[in-house]
Amino acid sequence: MCGIFGCTSSRLSVSTVIYESLKRLEYRGYDSVGLATTHNGSIYLKKDQGRIREVEENLHLSFLPGRCGIGHTRWATHGAPSKENAHPVTDCNGMLALVHNGVIENYLELKDQLQKLGHRMRSRTDSEVIAHLIEMHVKQGLPLDEAVRRTLLLLKGSYAIAAIFASDEDTIICARMESPLVIGLSPNFVCCSSDIPALPKEVEKIIVVENGEIVVIRPHTIIIKSLETGQELPLKVTLREEMTGDADIGGFTHYMLKEIHEQPQVALNVIKAPAKFVTQLAEKLVKAERVYLIGCGTSYHACIFGSHVLRFLAKIDSFPLIASEFDYCNASLDAKTVVLALSQSGETMDVLSALKRLQDLGIEVLALTNVMGSSITRLASAYLGLYAGPEIGVAATKTFTAQLLMLARVAVEASNIKGENVDYAKRIEEFLRQSPSAIKSSISSNVRRAQELSVKMSLKDHAFFLARGVNVATALEGALKLKEVSYVHAEGYPAGESKHGPIALVEEDYPCVFICPQDETYDKVIGNIMEMKARGAFIVSCIEEGDKEVKEISDFSFVLPSVEVKMLTPVLHVLPLQLLAYYTAVARGFDPDKPRNLAKSVTVP
Ligand code: AGP
Repeated sequence: MCGIFGCTSSRLSVSTVIYESLKRLEYRGYDSVGLATTHNGSIYLKKDQGRIREVEENLHLSFLPGRCGIGHTRWATHGAPSKENAHPVTDCNGMLALVHNGVIENYLELKDQLQKLGHRMRSRTDSEVIAHLIEMHVKQGLPLDEAVRRTLLLLKGSYAIAAIFASDEDTIICARMESPLVIGLSPNFVCCSSDIPALPKEVEKIIVVENGEIVVIRPHTIIIKSLETGQELPLKVTLREEMTGDADIGGFTHYMLKEIHEQPQVALNVIKAPAKFVTQLAEKLVKAERVYLIGCGTSYHACIFGSHVLRFLAKIDSFPLIASEFDYCNASLDAKTVVLALSQSGETMDVLSALKRLQDLGIEVLALTNVMGSSITRLASAYLGLYAGPEIGVAATKTFTAQLLMLARVAVEASNIKGENVDYAKRIEEFLRQSPSAIKSSISSNVRRAQELSVKMSLKDHAFFLARGVNVATALEGALKLKEVSYVHAEGYPAGESKHGPIALVEEDYPCVFICPQDETYDKVIGNIMEMKARGAFIVSCIEEGDKEVKEISDFSFVLPSVEVKMLTPVLHVLPLQLLAYYTAVARGFDPDKPRNLAKSVTVP
């Protein structure tokens, strides 16, 4: 997720307006930033890697001449954070500049075609392809808006773009497909922005740009055209005061809740991520005799899931290991070993120190991370992004889901390469395609249930989260979520283990949360439920639609869509547990975004 902004005026220099708006967009991405303006037939551009304030100190971003310009805050998806990969990007001769938020899925083939035509790319981004395609169409003699329209018709993927042109100093052409974009009207300027809260306070009226619309904005005119037909469309102007919504967190009370609700979009991002990088990782995994998946906290729970899926689907001997324990586990390490490190921040010291040791031993290290350019990407021989956008809440939610889905994609690819379980892999692919809507309905149908249960849970000091098989990853993750944001002491356990000691803690009304999909663990988990029930426990269950048996014996159930490929049920069953943790924290009066003693990235050993 990135932030884009543009502004054109007949009277004002715009660079300060753009800079101030970029600061309000920084939550959407903060690994690099840039600004460009048009003035006296030229384009002036400043950009660099780093947070907005750092780059301003070094480059004085807000001091650029001209009354028309664009700006961008970046969350890297393609191309590590660097000055070259920062936006705005330009065409070959710097006669146009462009900013982009989204993912262009077919950029590699377009880039190849452009390079054959002699275009020189300066970055490794997908976005730069758009600038060169517009340049190509302008050189064919098309008017600017038609050149942009023809370009956009070639793209597959998502975008919100804004472009400026040295030849038309007061014009910004922007467009939208999936990524958000609004136009703001004020007495002194017209602007475009990724979201409403970033609009300057002088903006009085707003036009929400719809998918498939191109907008040509000048200081005193706004024209909207259909991407498909090029026909002009009516302007739908709304007064700003009629469009409320909290600043940075889009109307949500906390980032954690916003990020839980972003998971359908994250799933879409993951399944649309270019296959090239997934294949690259899978090819390295299938050559290994053994694979260790290492991580910490939530990422370790994703490692458990990933090990199950790789073993089952691709018959790859894979084992989850807690990164901080890696030095003491005497793991077999040789040329046939591959390590897959999971870290959403890419900066967790326990993971990095294990990787450095492995590098010294010449062991191949692969990585999954949400932060391009993070330390882990420099230690791995190949890595995959999570496409989850910045995760501001300390508790990992959308990045966990992204890890599960991306691991499933890698396992499917590995299964196809090895010719193992190919039919099951096809069924997993079908689930992945449906996962955005399944995740959306799982969340929406359990918000009120989680709110209801949180009232009771907020009064408890202890809870068990129990499951078997791959669902142990869900149990551990649900327990971690609850304890780290609400401070209820929650333990995740393999359900079979609960009778070897933990059951001694169970007394009247003791909350026991069971993850109980109708998979091969179902019957035995019912047995564990009955053991706890017999001792007076308060039974909470995550069950699949239509399951009457477990619903009957539960005191409270979260109902999830039935998943045909049972290996993937953690993707859905973790969702109500995220919501439960969030609402329990709020019910106890804590800020789930900033839990005590915790940091978003644990960069100390
Ligand atoms: C998860 O909610 C916690 N914030 C924590 O356990 C986290 O998962 C762990 O510190 C690992 O972080 P990483 O994924 O950035 O490496």
